[in-house]
Amino acid sequence: MNKPDEGKPNLSRRRFLARAGGLVAAAAGAGLGVRAATDAIAAIKSDDRSTPDNTRNASEPFWGQHQGGILTPSQGHTYFAAFDLVTTKRDDVVNMLRGWTAAAARMAGGQSANLVGQDPDVSQTDTGEALGLPPARLTITFGFGAGLFAKDGKDRYGLAASRPEALVDMPKFNGDQLVEAHTGGDLSVQACADDPQVAFHAVRQLALAASYVAQVRWAQTGFITRPGPNETPRNLMGFKDGTSNPSVTDPNAMGKFVWVGGNGPDWMRGGSYVVIRRIRMALEHWDRLTVAFQEQTVGRQKSSGAPLGGKREFDSPDLKATDKDGNPVIPENAHIRLGVAENNDGARILRRPYSYNDGVNFNAERWPPWRQGMEYDAGLLFICYQQDPRTGFIKIFDKMSKFDMLNQFVTHTGGGLFACPGGIAEGGFIGQRLFESA
Ligand code: HEM
Repeated sequence: MNKPDEGKPNLSRRRFLARAGGLVAAAAGAGLGVRAATDAIAAIKSDDRSTPDNTRNASEPFWGQHQGGILTPSQGHTYFAAFDLVTTKRDDVVNMLRGWTAAAARMAGGQSANLVGQDPDVSQTDTGEALGLPPARLTITFGFGAGLFAKDGKDRYGLAASRPEALVDMPKFNGDQLVEAHTGGDLSVQACADDPQVAFHAVRQLALAASYVAQVRWAQTGFITRPGPNETPRNLMGFKDGTSNPSVTDPNAMGKFVWVGGNGPDWMRGGSYVVIRRIRMALEHWDRLTVAFQEQTVGRQKSSGAPLGGKREFDSPDLKATDKDGNPVIPENAHIRLGVAENNDGARILRRPYSYNDGVNFNAERWPPWRQGMEYDAGLLFICYQQDPRTGFIKIFDKMSKFDMLNQFVTHTGGGLFACPGGIAEGGFIGQRLFESA
C-alpha cells in the first residue's frame, strides 16, 4: 500500500474536481473564455496527485518486480478487456505500450490518465468519470496473447521467434462452447479496483488512447464481496471460492507455481500466465437442488466451506475417508477431488476469480432437465495465474472437463490465455525487455 507523498504537490481526483470547478467558475467570473478555463485545468493535471487517507483511498504499487493484480488481495471489482492489434507497425505497438504504462501508473496513483499526444483525435486528457474518486486500490495487469507474436501466419511485428513455448494454443476441452465474441485477443488489460467506475475508467482511457493501434475485442466485468476483511468471498452458487489456493505470502510457493523464473524467456521472468474463462452457471437448475447434492458436487460444505468430512474451512480434505457403506465421503467426481494437487501430479494454480452478472438470455441447457427459456447469463469469471499453463490450468482442467459433477451446471462460453510479462521498473514500459531483445 502506498503511503501519502508528503511534502509533494497534493491533489487527488476528488480534490481536483473541487479545485477545477472553482477555477472554471473563477475564469468565467473573470471574463475568461472556456478555453482559458480548460487551460487552467490542464495546468493542474501536471501535479494531480493522490492523498490516501483511509483504506478506500489506498493505492497499490504499480512499479516493481511483478505486475500488480496477481498477488494483490482481490479488489471488489474487475473490468477485463481483450484487444486486437490493428496496426501493421511495430513502432505503433511500442508507443502504445509506452503510453499505456505511463497512464496506468498515473491512474493507479489516483491521478488522471493524461492521454494527450496518444491519439491525434483525442483532445481531452482524461474522460473525467473518475475525477473525485479515490485510487480504490486500482491495479492494471497487462498480458500478451499469441496474436502479438504472429497472426494468420504473419509475423506482423518481428516477434514470431519470441513467442514463449508456454503460450500454447489452448486445446479444446470437453464441453467447451466458447463464442468468438468472448474469446481470444492479442493483448489483455485487466483493471481491478474497489470501485467499479475506477476500474472501467482505467480500461476506457487505454482503449481511447490506443484506438488506431488496438481495439477492444471483448470485455467482461466482475465483482466479489467479502463478508469480512479476511473472509473468503462466495461465488454465485453460494459456495466459498478461493479457500484452497497457494499462499500469496509464501515466496517459495509463488516461485514454484506462479512466477516464471529461469525456465522462460528473460522478458517473462517475474511474470506469469493468466487463463481466463467466462463460465456461465445454470443457476435456475442449481437452485432447485438440495444443499446436500450441491455439497456432494463441490466436495465442500456450503455454509462453512469445510471439506466434506471436515469441520472448518481450512481443514485438509481427507480424500481417503469413506462412509459406513464404504463410499468416499468426498465423491469420486466432486470438483475439489479433481482439483487437488495430489490428483494432478502436484499441479497448483493461483485462482483469482470474480462473479459476473450480465442479465438474462435465451438459453437451451445441455444437461437434463434441458431447460429452455430466459435464463441468467451469470456465473464465474474464472481467472488463474500460473508459471506454465501446460502444467497448471491445462493439466488440471483436462481431467476436470471430462469428469467433474459440476460440469452439469456450468458452461465455458469464452476466455483466453495471455503471457503477463514481469513487472516494470519506474520509467520503463510493459514488455520492454521483449521488444529490446527481439
Ligand atoms: C463455475 C465454475 C467453477 C466453480 C463454481 C468453482 C468453484 C469452486 C469451489 C467452490 C471450490 C472450493 C473452494 C476453494 O478451494 O476455493 C473450488 C476449488 C477449486 N477449483 Fe473450482 N470452480 C469452478 C471452475 C474451476 C475451473 C475451470 C478450474 C480449472 C482448473 C477450477 C479449479 C479449482 C481448483 C484447483 C480448486 C482447489 C482444489 C483444492 O485444492 O482443494 N475450478 N472451485
